[in-house]
Amino acid sequence: MALLEMQDISISFFGSYANEHVNLSVEAGEIHALLGENGAGKTTLMNILYGIYRAESGRIFWQGQEVDFRAPQEAIRAGIGMVHQHFSLVNAKTVLDNILLGDEQVPFFLPRKKLRARVLELSERYGLKVDPDALVGDLSIGEKQRVEILKALYRDIRLLILDEPTAVLTPGETEQLFQVLKALKERGFAVILITHRMSEIMNNTDRITVLRGGKCVGTLKTAETDAAALSALMVGRELEVPSNTAFCDDSKEMLSLDHVSVFRSGRKRATIDDVTLSVHAGEILGIAGVEGNGQKELAEAIVGIRRRRVRGSIRVEDQDLTGTSVCVRAERGMAYVPDDRQHDALVPGMDIGENLLLRQYNHVPFSSGRVFHKKAIRKNAQDAVDTYNIRTVGSLGIHSPVRMLSGGNQQKIVLAREITPGARFIVASQPTRGLDISASAFVHEKLLEQKRLGKGVLLISADLEEILALSDRIAVMYNGRIAGVLSRAEATVEKIGLLMGGMTGEKEAVA
Ligand SMILES: Nc1ncnc2c1ncn2[C@@H]1O[C@H](COP(=O)(O)OP(=O)(O)O)[C@@H](O)[C@H]1O
Ligand SMILES: [Mg+2]
Repeated sequence: MALLEMQDISISFFGSYANEHVNLSVEAGEIHALLGENGAGKTTLMNILYGIYRAESGRIFWQGQEVDFRAPQEAIRAGIGMVHQHFSLVNAKTVLDNILLGDEQVPFFLPRKKLRARVLELSERYGLKVDPDALVGDLSIGEKQRVEILKALYRDIRLLILDEPTAVLTPGETEQLFQVLKALKERGFAVILITHRMSEIMNNTDRITVLRGGKCVGTLKTAETDAAALSALMVGRELEVPSNTAFCDDSKEMLSLDHVSVFRSGRKRATIDDVTLSVHAGEILGIAGVEGNGQKELAEAIVGIRRRRVRGSIRVEDQDLTGTSVCVRAERGMAYVPDDRQHDALVPGMDIGENLLLRQYNHVPFSSGRVFHKKAIRKNAQDAVDTYNIRTVGSLGIHSPVRMLSGGNQQKIVLAREITPGARFIVASQPTRGLDISASAFVHEKLLEQKRLGKGVLLISADLEEILALSDRIAVMYNGRIAGVLSRAEATVEKIGLLMGGMTGEKEAVA
């Protein structure tokens, strides 16, 4: 029998199945991918295994014995560890304290020296480098993840579950993570890996189980399949992956940033430090970089959300927009798809029609003076729902509150509202974050359509595959500066990765 057998697992929420008769079998010494679109039921299945949810039906066998974990502590004690999408570390404590926290085996009086030695030994053995005395709050995301893994390994597990672990890592950190997973596999551990990234699956896993709509649609050997077949299985149809092939018009500048810096109050150092960039007509300029290196501030300075403490000049086509308000910029053709759609782009409690009006409510035909024209608003909403194929909630239709929609459908509303015929320049920040491959493909197609229409697009993304597929040129941000600009032809994951990590490549003059 396999190390883990989950048989015929079902669970439902509010009457609809999240897992429906799912089977999963994992061997010792294998890296097993769990693949599926958003909402396919991957996290739910793992939460059932880990004792967070209880299945309504089905059986779980672990090391040949039937088990029924009622809490994560029970799963951990049996040898199953899980690193969630959102970490559960305590920032104010040290790495060592975090690792020991919640460990029932640790006696009240801690022989700290011994425990510390054991943590160091584990971190050495698996290449999980961390300083046990560092405060977790001071660590990078990649380091925090290593602490989570160490914490699991410290508890003598045999199976490690990782839920979308690479979504937040740099290419270098991702590479390191896979080295660690390989070391675990060689020592007979089993790993269940949830990821959307095909290249990671193809390069690192032994087998793949695909979920679609809560059902298991197959388990395949990695060596016997390919990315296209997996996508088709996951989505249920062939999916065309949009990519950028058209040329752009280098003679016309749509956006010009001239020595733009952004300062934070009370700080001397600039958050954005002297950025000079231009984006041409029909060009998608990708901004790659680990989040938090100034991308958000740059986007906000361009669209006008940040105006104070911004130096330098900002032009769209022949209009100088330096110092103007968000509204003025929007009227002159600036569109913005912000990274945090829940907070910055949508009002979750309002319905689809209302959210679509958020930026043009004071224009005819939606209102004249203080009167809103309900009919025009309804038609606008229905058009967007039809054109963008937005899935509304049952009979609520265009009156569905936006908070009830999936992430992909929420993002479609933002696109429908922002990408209007009048938009000349589009700033899209992490536009596919959290979206599955069909919704991502839709967003990509939309951005490419804007390119073909001769508009300019600034695509800010932490997802390198996305950047490489769509960009005509790629600028890498590090520490508030443009660390380098690469043409599509010369850009490789390695080159971008080095710049993202702060290694200085040859600095190019920015066109
Ligand atoms: N606690 C919960 N309450 C209600 N619905 C849930 C809950 N957890 C998961 N679901 C639903 O179950 C389905 C599967 O979700 P999930 O397992 O998170 O998918 P995945 O991890 O594959 O993206 C989704 O439709 C989700 O909305
Ligand atoms: Mg999930």
